[in-house]
Amino acid sequence: MTDPESPSTGAQPTAAVCPFSGHTLPSDGRPLAPSPFFAELRTEGGAHPLRFADGHEGLLVTNHELARSVLSDSRFSQRPQRFPLGRGQIVEPDLANPDARALASADLLSLDGSAHERLRKMVTGRFSVKAVRAHRETIERIVTEQLEHLLAQPTPADLTLHFAEPISARIHAHVLGIIPELVDDFVTTVVYGTDGHAKHEFGRRAIKARRQSPGDDVLSDLIASDLTDDEVLGLMMVLMVSGRDSVAYMIATSTVALFTHPDQLATLREKSDLMPTAVEEFLRFGAMFVGLFPRTATEDLEIDGVKIAAGQTISVSPVAANRDPQRFDDPEVFDVERDAFGHLGFGFGPHGCIGQQLARVEIRAAISALITRIPTLELIDADQLRVQPFQHEVPTYRAGKVLVSW
Ligand code: HEM
Repeated sequence: MTDPESPSTGAQPTAAVCPFSGHTLPSDGRPLAPSPFFAELRTEGGAHPLRFADGHEGLLVTNHELARSVLSDSRFSQRPQRFPLGRGQIVEPDLANPDARALASADLLSLDGSAHERLRKMVTGRFSVKAVRAHRETIERIVTEQLEHLLAQPTPADLTLHFAEPISARIHAHVLGIIPELVDDFVTTVVYGTDGHAKHEFGRRAIKARRQSPGDDVLSDLIASDLTDDEVLGLMMVLMVSGRDSVAYMIATSTVALFTHPDQLATLREKSDLMPTAVEEFLRFGAMFVGLFPRTATEDLEIDGVKIAAGQTISVSPVAANRDPQRFDDPEVFDVERDAFGHLGFGFGPHGCIGQQLARVEIRAAISALITRIPTLELIDADQLRVQPFQHEVPTYRAGKVLVSW
């Protein structure tokens, strides 16, 4: 298997011209080899002009320290939701529509201040280190079952489809409190479905089922709380879609990273106690978010010497900040023994990832199982060795197919 960073991988840049011309987001990167323009930009400073899809002239933050300062500064708002890519106009939710109204009432990444805090704290306890520890046995069981399922496939088999995605979907359903009888429906309607209304209808079914049979889980807590029906549905929708693809992406991408760096794979196989450290390096080196949700200054600001005008929107790039040489030595080197803590793969600040402890345990369990229980595993090909379009308006890489054999 060729190294994704080597020029011989057949990488296909989307354009022969400078991908940053016109100050748009560079699109010639791959999950394990971000656009070289990020490195070039960083040498010019921490913030750079960025044109958003609606024509707004905002800023792209590529430096680690400035990124953390912006993400933890309460003088930024999550609104308006304008993105560097996609729709050319800002679309506000249609509050006459019950689905949109429920989602808007609890959409954590578009709420600020106390409204955001109040909803976030309803669920954080269920994602603490201690709470996640209680799920370890179930996580291990699901990983083992999916490993057996993968091994039952003809080779080459798609690891994303048969291993990474079902692990993230089934664990998500379990932790959130979707009753076992509805898990297949969750997978069809929410994980692989494309109909937004059908997803909300599934949310309503999941809530109804838990009302009739309360358990010890996120959804049971929400139902027993003083949240409105809209907020319960909205928060459940946010949680059902948040982080599920990201866990699958990280399992797939970490596999590709290890099998294209055989020395690192050998080190990890030899020293299994390195796994927690290695997971941080997977998250640093293979971060999924090229840009986070937008942050807009509510007043004129100067942060770390950068002037930001009231109303100006910032896109913080974890992919770029995670390779900032001021923060990480030899940032382009994938090293499972390095101390990668402090990476921005989970964001930072009040909107930092709620599910990060759960995600760490899932990635650790999945990668450990793959590399210890299938000693003959080989990577045959992966979509992410080639340039892919971003997955959403919020620019993220996608897992794509990861073909393996054994
Ligand atoms: C490897 C897996 C994951 C990655 C890489 C990831 C990444 C992120 C990032 C970067 C953010 C911040 C976005 C921003 O500030 O613009 C975020 C927020 C969030 N994540 Fe995750 N995530 C993962 C897994 C999960 C899981 C398992 C859950 C569980 C439900 C989850 C739930 C959330 C929620 C609800 C937010 C919004 C928090 C808020 O606005 O207060 N994530 N995640």
